[in-house]
Amino acid sequence: MLNFTYYNPTRIVFGRDTIGQLSELVPAEARVLLLYGGQSAEKTGTLAEVRAALAPRTVLEFGGIEPNPHFETLMGAVAKVREHRLDFLLAVGGGSVVDGTKFVAAASCFDGDPVQILKTRGAAITQALPLGAVLTLAATGSEMNPTGVVTHVASQTKLPFRNPLLFPRFSILDPVKTFTVPPRQVANGVVDAFVHVAEQYLTVPDAAPVQERMAEGLMQTLVELGPQVRANPQDYDARASLMWAATMALNGVVGAGVTHDWSTHGIGHPLTALYDMDHARTLAILLPANLIVRRGVKRAKLLQYAERVWGVRDGDEEARIDQAIERTRAFFEEMGLPTRLSAYGLGDEAIDAVVGQLEKNGITRLGERGEVTPAVMRQILQAAR
Ligand code: NZQ
Ligand code: ZN
Repeated sequence: MLNFTYYNPTRIVFGRDTIGQLSELVPAEARVLLLYGGQSAEKTGTLAEVRAALAPRTVLEFGGIEPNPHFETLMGAVAKVREHRLDFLLAVGGGSVVDGTKFVAAASCFDGDPVQILKTRGAAITQALPLGAVLTLAATGSEMNPTGVVTHVASQTKLPFRNPLLFPRFSILDPVKTFTVPPRQVANGVVDAFVHVAEQYLTVPDAAPVQERMAEGLMQTLVELGPQVRANPQDYDARASLMWAATMALNGVVGAGVTHDWSTHGIGHPLTALYDMDHARTLAILLPANLIVRRGVKRAKLLQYAERVWGVRDGDEEARIDQAIERTRAFFEEMGLPTRLSAYGLGDEAIDAVVGQLEKNGITRLGERGEVTPAVMRQILQAAR
């Protein structure tokens, strides 16, 4: 029986030549911190457009937010916000910059040690600065959700946090700004969005046909778009559809009221923290292994997935499930993401390290009903060797 509250206050401004609208979206009297990553936003001219649209406001800048943003780096932005009494944050970049900006929004108003924001997964947040985003990479959905993921380098941990105060006020999605995203990041984005849908769909039956059909449609769309964007990086329509698919994959719509299973993401984060593996690459390794190990609890949904997403109708039930998992693996591989730990030279020692990290952070019950204990995490990692 469906029973849920759906809340999403983020205004989306989507389309070509939309950055100029910042002049109305950011309050006229705001004292702004503009946050960005490495060099991409400067090189592509996106930052220049943003600066022009924000004038004549007071705008300070904080660049250098790395992929899988570091707590230690972000605290530099927090110091700048406090020193200059800034009151509005604008992220220009991909998921890492948007996530990092959410952390800065919360940490700038936080009494006490901001590590608590991560340790409590965001529950300790009581105030946050308003933020907006100009998205330059389609992948995470951070532009329309209240979640961030930050790496605490000192303890080699990567932890998610969420709080309704962290929804962006607005996000500008101009697909043209993603034309320059390199093929590796395009592929990562397609796989990340696909796995976001999978973690909200490949669970147990929920009597939620609207969410299920939307999830299946998003997955099929991503399977079609990945190769199209790779073949034609300047195809506006393909880029636009990919951008919107990635946003829809994690803005709460397909997940409203249904059972979730974030165990693939949960086990993936320590792989990034320990071995610097791209986020989506951890997912490409872990999702097929997770489905193999936990095909029992996911049986009904795996059969539905086989038929509706991949058109698999032949063979007995076990064979159809096998085919669906293999089609998923083949899709990730075709996008250029390896699906085995061994492709990264990782073996049993990595399995011990990942499970050890999760236990150290108290992450010992993942999955639909908390059944993914350290023993099951180990099985999944072993199936991913
Ligand atoms: O740093 P710059 O120079 O800007 O380069 C970036 C970066 O190297 C580059 N890039 C971004 N836009 C570009 C571009 N290069 C050329 N042209 C452009 N238009 O791409 C590289 C990767 O950027 P990043 O922001 O790290 O990628 P992504 O958007 O995939 O974000 C990944 C992060 O998001 C987290 C991940 O864990 C990871 O830390 N996630 C956030 C989620 C959320 N907030 O809900 C959910 C996800 O599951 C995920 O965990
Ligand atoms: Zn993800």
